[in-house]
Amino acid sequence: MQLRWPGGGKMWLGVLLALLLCSSLESQENSFTINSIRMESQPMWTVQNGWNLTLQCIVDISTTSQVKPQHLVLFYKDDVMFYNVSSTENMESFFIPQARASDSGKYKCTVLLNNKEKTTPEHELLVKGVANPRVMLDKKEVIEGGVVTVNCSVEEEKAPIYFKIEKFSLETKSVKQTRQKTSHNQNFVTIDFPIEEQDHILKFHCQAMVVSGLQMEYSEFTKSELVTVRESFSTPKFHISPAGLITEGDQLHIKCTIQVTHLAQAFPEIIIQKDKVIVAHNRHGSEAVYSVMAMVEHNGNYTCKVEASRISKVSSIVVNITELFSKPKLESSATRLDEGENLSLWCIIPGAPPANFTIQKGNMTVTEAQNFTKVVSERDSGTYTCTAGIGNVVKRSNKVQITVCEMLSKPRIFHDTRSEVIKGQIIAISCQSINGTSPISYHLLKASKIIESLQKSSNDPAVFQDNPTKDVEYQCIVDNCHSHAEMISEVLRVKVIAPVDEVKLTILLNEDVESGKAIVLRCSVNEGSGPITYRFYRENEGKPFFQITLNDTQAIWHKPQASREEEGLYYCTAFNRANSTRSVPQSNTLTVRVFLAPWKKGLIAVVVIGVIIATLVLGARCYFLKKAKGKQMPVEMSRSVDL
Ligand SMILES: *[C@@H]1O[C@H](CO)[C@@H](O)[C@H](O)[C@H]1NC(C)=O
Ligand SMILES: *[C@@H]1O[C@H](CO)[C@@H](O)[C@H](O)[C@H]1NC(C)=O
Ligand SMILES: *[C@@H]1O[C@H](CO)[C@@H](O)[C@H](O)[C@H]1NC(C)=O
Ligand SMILES: *[C@@H]1O[C@H](CO)[C@@H](O)[C@H](O)[C@H]1NC(C)=O
Ligand SMILES: *[C@@H]1O[C@H](CO)[C@@H](O)[C@H](O)[C@H]1NC(C)=O
Ligand SMILES: *[C@@H]1O[C@H](CO)[C@@H](O)[C@H](O)[C@H]1NC(C)=O
Ligand SMILES: *[C@@H]1O[C@H](CO)[C@@H](O)[C@H](O)[C@H]1NC(C)=O
Ligand SMILES: *[C@@H]1O[C@H](CO)[C@@H](O)[C@H](O)[C@H]1NC(C)=O
Ligand SMILES: *[C@@H]1O[C@H](CO)[C@@H](O)[C@H](O)[C@H]1NC(C)=O
Ligand SMILES: *[C@@H]1O[C@H](CO)[C@@H](O)[C@H](O)[C@H]1NC(C)=O
Ligand SMILES: *[C@@H]1O[C@H](CO)[C@@H](O)[C@H](O)[C@H]1NC(C)=O
Ligand SMILES: *[C@@H]1O[C@H](CO)[C@@H](O)[C@H](O)[C@H]1NC(C)=O
Repeated sequence: MQLRWPGGGKMWLGVLLALLLCSSLESQENSFTINSIRMESQPMWTVQNGWNLTLQCIVDISTTSQVKPQHLVLFYKDDVMFYNVSSTENMESFFIPQARASDSGKYKCTVLLNNKEKTTPEHELLVKGVANPRVMLDKKEVIEGGVVTVNCSVEEEKAPIYFKIEKFSLETKSVKQTRQKTSHNQNFVTIDFPIEEQDHILKFHCQAMVVSGLQMEYSEFTKSELVTVRESFSTPKFHISPAGLITEGDQLHIKCTIQVTHLAQAFPEIIIQKDKVIVAHNRHGSEAVYSVMAMVEHNGNYTCKVEASRISKVSSIVVNITELFSKPKLESSATRLDEGENLSLWCIIPGAPPANFTIQKGNMTVTEAQNFTKVVSERDSGTYTCTAGIGNVVKRSNKVQITVCEMLSKPRIFHDTRSEVIKGQIIAISCQSINGTSPISYHLLKASKIIESLQKSSNDPAVFQDNPTKDVEYQCIVDNCHSHAEMISEVLRVKVIAPVDEVKLTILLNEDVESGKAIVLRCSVNEGSGPITYRFYRENEGKPFFQITLNDTQAIWHKPQASREEEGLYYCTAFNRANSTRSVPQSNTLTVRVFLAPWKKGLIAVVVIGVIIATLVLGARCYFLKKAKGKQMPVEMSRSVDL
């Protein structure tokens, strides 16, 4: 079958048509017509795989000619021409021996006569089923952990073919594994199947599947020959000694053994496990042993695992050991004690069998007796246990935590700044109990009120911070586990000095001072701790004219009898220990005026008038005296005038 249409096919058709035209030229007078064309499949359009099949194309042609006309019949599958024949018959056939899935498809045929052409509708040919595959194995006998390679093939069918292979156990009559594989180019696949420890007698089943038209067609399952699986080693076996009742103190042996076939290349690993813990193992032999002095702790479910790459075999056994005596119990008179109190510890076993006892603190033995009493100090705090032994069986008790509490020493309170505290500064106040069991809780009291609390896990000082604004008293309270009531410290007094603030200069009585009356200047501060130094200045004078240090927020300067010299601009400064000399606060500037009293003015006027009158009188007297002299010696007078 040549299913190749484009290209060469077209050319060939052209030649054929030319030939037909030539023949038609010969019989130009004759007329032809194609009445009908149909396609049939014998026996039917749907067949079983492997059936013989004939495709028929039946044409009905009418002609005026005596001879049957030569026409061309073309067969198509899925639009690709696969067979052509030039014929004068009205039926042409195409035989398909043993139809296969790949023959499924859409078929049609075409008849060509002169320049006339007719085509049948498309018919779907369905080949049901797939030829049964063949299964071949690479071996008939295999060891556990080995591999069987299965070759499944369908020579009759064309790729792509889907294969499904099942591993089937004859003992359990169940499928143990299924694998699928598609072969895109060949009509067979090979698949490896690992052989597991539970496999004994196996068969492999294979099925082939092919897509036919739009659906999947399936072959039947073909069964392979039997495969026998040989064990590489036996399932492990436990041997416990002593046999029968096992009592604490007995030497216990838990042994696990296996048998290994000569086929195996190496010994598998043997592991004895209790719960998740490996207690014994062996890589180079046929047994593993766990030996131990029997104790009830060894009771339980032991598992023996034997492993060789893919193969693992397991068995388990429950070991039951009879208890010789119960676990001892450590009891105490108290778990929290003050230093100096009595502590009693006693170790007991239910049933009180005779035994050897030890009582331990941590890993130090404190006594080899059953009971223990002592007056405790802080270093007796710790975890106590006891052990009880009968023969070589020794058992340890529960743990008892004992806490011994040392009383706190009276706390010391102190602060960091040695000099006075300036208002606004933060100070650190420390409180410390040198002796006493920690943790220690500290509470800071300020003016008898708790303002802050701290917990210290050592005897280091607790440090509080505060920002006092005035003189204040601090105290601290400490407390710990000791039953004694809490302790209070001495009082810590902190002196706070306020810096000088807002210096003001004022004049008392009157701003305009009558001369001879008193000038009173007051320099005051709004706030400031004493002693405060006040300085009074006159403007443009470098040095103060008055200075005083007082435990007061104001200072007074006064002059009983003011004169005009006191007139001018005044200011003052004030400072205390809190104010540095570089930034001494200064007051406002004040203007002081001094004026004369009215009676003084009058007096001055009288004096002035008196002086004028006296001057006039004197002047008049001189004039008359000169006039009298002038008549006696006029020459002298004129000379003096010339000068
Ligand atoms: C038509 O048939 C002839 C012989 O029967 C063959 O040589 C030719 O290749 C066929 N044409 C096609 C297109 O297959
Ligand atoms: C199918 O055809 C072949 C010849 O191609 C013939 O030998 C065989 O007997 C036929 N089978 C059936 C079932 O007719
Ligand atoms: C599988 O079997 C087929 C048919 O028997 C054969 O042609 C093919 O070579 C085989 N494949 C392998 C890998 O043995
Ligand atoms: C012991 O342990 C194995 C593995 O964990 C388990 O399969 C088995 O049932 C256990 N046996 C008993 C008696 O608990
Ligand atoms: C162990 O043995 C004792 C008696 O010897 C029995 O009472 C107990 O139930 C056994 N325990 C188990 C887990 O078999
Ligand atoms: C502690 O025990 C001793 C002797 O056992 C006894 O003398 C003492 O009074 C006890 N002290 C206290 C505080 O109980
Ligand atoms: C006790 O235990 C401590 C730590 O837990 C260890 O340093 C010390 O060596 C042990 N002493 C003895 C006697 O085992
Ligand atoms: C230990 O103390 C317990 C309880 O106080 C008492 O019953 C027992 O007799 C004491 N044992 C010894 C050996 O002193
Ligand atoms: C206690 O210890 C002593 C000396 O180690 C031993 O002789 C005695 O048998 C022990 N007693 C018990 C009940 O185990
Ligand atoms: C702290 O304890 C030591 C020794 O226990 C003692 O010498 C010391 O006086 C105690 N200090 C105070 C402040 O109680
Ligand atoms: C101020 O008061 C303190 C004590 O309150 C005193 O020691 C100091 O002498 C006083 N200063 C003056 C200047 O009065
Ligand atoms: C006084 O001194 C304090 C700090 O030294 C400063 O904060 C304050 O402003 C000063 N007062 C005046 C009025 O300058």
